[in-house]
Amino acid sequence: MRFEEIIEHKRDGKVLTKEEIHFFIKNYVDDKIPDYQVSALLMAIYLKGMNDEETAILTEEMRVSGKVWDLSDIPGLMADKHSTGGVGDKVSLILGPMIASCGAKLAKMSGRGLGHTGGTLDKLESIPGFNINLSYDQFKEQVRTVGMAIIGQDKDIDPADKKLYALRDVTATVSSVPLIASSIMSKKLALGSDCILLDVKYGSGAFMKTKEDAEVLANVMINIGKKLGKDVKAEVTDMDQPLGMAVGNALEIKEVIKTLKCNGPKDLTELCLNSGAIMLVQSKIYATEEEARKALLTNLENGKAFDKFVEFVGAQGGDTSYILDPSKFEVAKNIIPIYSQKSGIVKRIDALTIGKCSMELGGGRETMEDVIDMSAGIILNKKIGDEVKEGEVLCTLHTNKLDTVSIEEKVIKAFEF
Ligand code: URA
Repeated sequence: MRFEEIIEHKRDGKVLTKEEIHFFIKNYVDDKIPDYQVSALLMAIYLKGMNDEETAILTEEMRVSGKVWDLSDIPGLMADKHSTGGVGDKVSLILGPMIASCGAKLAKMSGRGLGHTGGTLDKLESIPGFNINLSYDQFKEQVRTVGMAIIGQDKDIDPADKKLYALRDVTATVSSVPLIASSIMSKKLALGSDCILLDVKYGSGAFMKTKEDAEVLANVMINIGKKLGKDVKAEVTDMDQPLGMAVGNALEIKEVIKTLKCNGPKDLTELCLNSGAIMLVQSKIYATEEEARKALLTNLENGKAFDKFVEFVGAQGGDTSYILDPSKFEVAKNIIPIYSQKSGIVKRIDALTIGKCSMELGGGRETMEDVIDMSAGIILNKKIGDEVKEGEVLCTLHTNKLDTVSIEEKVIKAFEF
């Protein structure tokens, strides 16, 4: 088989065979096909697409391109959750202890934040001592005993995705539905989960700009699950404003604690209850989402979900005194209120702008080498639908940087009335 022929086939809109996709992934991972040829194939896939069958085959070939974990000896079904990325999205950190306190098992690998989106690992690392590098055996033991573990990407899992993602990033081929779907699903499936809940975001802060596009991506990923024998469900949720009130690592952990103590923002609590109910049914702990939701609410109210979070943080080496007393988290030196210049009802809060500004305040990274200031970020005082009077505080900036004038100007423009 010659790789040029595979490029030609896709360029001409043909359906690639299992043998062609296998040849592509196997030889690319083995460094036998150069990046310039794979770039051409990626662009052909970007332009001509792939059908569900091809996308499922691509996912499976990527999944088995490296190490595959086997969690089948842990009792119960292994659940995983994936959000396609958002601003202020700390759902996994609330949802995990909520469902684990009801008997489910969350086995999760997470990523770091880049650009305007935050990463679960960075948020966890704002807790002193928290260890994201558990070994395979430690990870399994913690899932078995605590009911949840969240770790960083194992470098040996899905090497095909690592190479392809880096190449897509520099060849304008990231936003292709089959390429996004196979990238997300191959990593999730390599971890050995039985059921996966996807939260596919749309809006200015998300990969998919419209609800329709997000639904297309969600359906492709559900179909991959069906073809590969896994229970995959998806929610399609909007990112027309940040999720909750806090954006930025330690600020978000404090919001996680509040939410687990039943004092969290309504939108965040609702999303966690809805997602948790779906996952408890997927995990076969409850037969209906209504029963599952009741159990989740009970465990929020009786403190069991919060206790599970403390147990999880402690199991991974985190200093639990910060969770019990969040005033211990370092606070940024400058806390700058942003005052509204008009009165009205908030119509939209551009999540992309808020995410980028939080990054500029020190709360995120522009390149993977940047160091994050865990105390930096933005706390919203107003959300969509809230009434605002001129001179009222819209949000506060938390930063150790001194020159924030241009950021202040951008943040105020993120609010539409
Ligand atoms: N997240 C991934 O893991 N891969 C993509 O292609 C896009 C988002």
